[in-house]
Amino acid sequence: MKPRMFLAGLLIFAACSLGLALAGGGGGNFDFLTDADRKGMQERFVKEVWPLLQRQGKEGCVGCHNGKIVSSLKMSGNAENDFRMMVKAGFFIPNDSGSLLTRIKSKDRKQKMPPPGKGEPWTDAEKDVLHKFVADLDKKNQKKTK
Ligand code: HEC
Repeated sequence: MKPRMFLAGLLIFAACSLGLALAGGGGGNFDFLTDADRKGMQERFVKEVWPLLQRQGKEGCVGCHNGKIVSSLKMSGNAENDFRMMVKAGFFIPNDSGSLLTRIKSKDRKQKMPPPGKGEPWTDAEKDVLHKFVADLDKKNQKKTK
């Protein structure tokens, strides 16, 4: 192998390892949830959080994030499937800049969800429902890491 190609290969390998390390970092995808916790939290999600995401049709979270807009958050409209997708993709990580909670609570017009002028902003009580849900999910996940 030519030295140049070797170097390029090495760089690609390093970049991939870094990508893997970042993706798996800190149990962000909630790998430490037990099956029972996962099931319990899914039931809670369907009852408490899903109605908030789903209301207001096209102006709601689910209606707009239907896969046709440019966003990494693509919802199918099926509560259980969307819960599993969001857990896996890290949308419930408490302080992540791309998480549901952060975007709903943001004061920055460019970050805030729903986008200003599109649909009703969430009330503080509604934000609290999501906040508690995210905190509990995080707690159940951490418990298993120790
Ligand atoms: C009218 C359409 C619309 C509505 C309604 C809407 N969003 Fe968004 N959302 C977007 C677009 C477009 C983006 C990508 C651009 C950006 O980052 O702001 C986005 C980005 C996001 C992101 C970051 C993911 C990414 O693509 O980086 C999250 C999380 C999010 N929205 C959650 C929500 C939640 C929760 C609601 C309901 C409270 C909601 N959105 C309502 C259009 C919408």
